[in-house]
Amino acid sequence: MEANRRAFLKTLAGASVVGMSGLFCLPELQASAPKLDFGEVRGLTIKCVSEVGWFDTEMIANDVRRAGGPSMNQYDIPFAPDNAGGYSALLTVEDFEGGKTSYLLDTGWSTAWMDHAFAKSGVDEMLRNRTIAGLIISHDHNDHFWGLESTLKNDPGIPIIFPATLQEKSLRLLDGADYSALSGNPRNSFPHTGPRTAVPAGGMCVPQLGVAIAMLDVDIPLGVRGENVVYVKVRDKGYVIVTGCGHPGIGRLIDHAAANFLDGGRMYGCYGGLHIAPLEKWHPEMQGSIDKIQASGMRKVACNHCTGRVWARRAQEQGVPVVPGTDGFRAYDRLAKNAPDTGANLYVGNGDLVVF
Ligand SMILES: [Fe+2]
Ligand SMILES: [Fe+2]
Repeated sequence: MEANRRAFLKTLAGASVVGMSGLFCLPELQASAPKLDFGEVRGLTIKCVSEVGWFDTEMIANDVRRAGGPSMNQYDIPFAPDNAGGYSALLTVEDFEGGKTSYLLDTGWSTAWMDHAFAKSGVDEMLRNRTIAGLIISHDHNDHFWGLESTLKNDPGIPIIFPATLQEKSLRLLDGADYSALSGNPRNSFPHTGPRTAVPAGGMCVPQLGVAIAMLDVDIPLGVRGENVVYVKVRDKGYVIVTGCGHPGIGRLIDHAAANFLDGGRMYGCYGGLHIAPLEKWHPEMQGSIDKIQASGMRKVACNHCTGRVWARRAQEQGVPVVPGTDGFRAYDRLAKNAPDTGANLYVGNGDLVVF
C-alpha cells in the first residue's frame, strides 16, 4: 500500500498538481510522459441503481427531432413529461486493509424515479449516513445529471467531481437553479454545499489509490462536452473501465489506458453504457467495437444503458463475455417499453450486482 502511494507520488513529481485536498488531479496527460501508476485495489463491486435513461426511446428521439435535432442544447428542448428515468451506479472498492469506499456515478434524470431507485438500492440511506465518499458526474446529459435533487436532498454536502467542461446551466443547477418551466427540464431545491472538483480536460483525478477518473474531451450531442470515465485497477486481474454513456467510444477508452497507465494493456472488464446502438439498430460498423473488446482480452463485459441489446446479442454470439442480467429490474415500479421478457435479460439491469 505504502509502496503504491510512493510510486504514485513519484509519478506526480514534475507534473503540476491541481485540484483540492484529498484528491490528486493532473492536467492534460502528455503522450511523452511516463506511464502512470495510480495503485491498485483488492476488488470492485458495482450495483446497478438504474440503467434506464428513459422509458420510451422512440418518444425521446421524437422530442429531440421536433426541437431541431441533436445539435440543439438539451436545456432548450421540451421533453415529454413522464418519460424520464435516469442512469446511476454505485461503485464500492475494497482496499488492502479491507476498507470499503463507495462512490455514486451519476444521479439520473427524473427525481421521482431516482428517489424510487435510490430507495430500492439503499443509496438514499447511505447518502443520509454520509457513507458515500463522492458523487462522480460522468457528463451532464439529462439522464445522468438532471436528477441531482435526489442525491442532494439526502446529502447536500457530498463532494462532487465533474468534467471541467460542464455547461454553465449545469453549474447553476448545483447552486439551486430551476429550469422546470420547460417540460422535462430540471430544478434543484437543495443547493450543493460541499466541495467540488472539476477534472481538467484530457487530465484525471485520483480519489484514492487504484481509482482514477479520466476526463476525455469529446463533443457530445445536445450541447454537452467531455466525459469522466472511471478506471479501477484490480490486483491480479487488470483494469476495469466504468462509464456513464461511454461517448468517447470503447475503443478509445481501451487505447487511453494502454497509452497512459502502467500495464494499461491489461484489461479485465467494463461496466456501463457503451453508446453503440442506443436506438437498437444494428449497423455493420458496430462490428469494430466487438473486435476491439475481444482483442483487449476483457473477461467481464457488464454493458447496459445506451449500449443496445442488439449489439450485446451479436457480441455474445461471437464469444464476448457479456454479463447477463437477472429479472431484478421487475421489482422496480416501472419497466422500460423495450424491457426484456422474463429470464431473457441479455445484460445487467436495475438492481443487479457485478463483482470484478
Ligand atoms: Fe445516457
Ligand atoms: Fe450521454
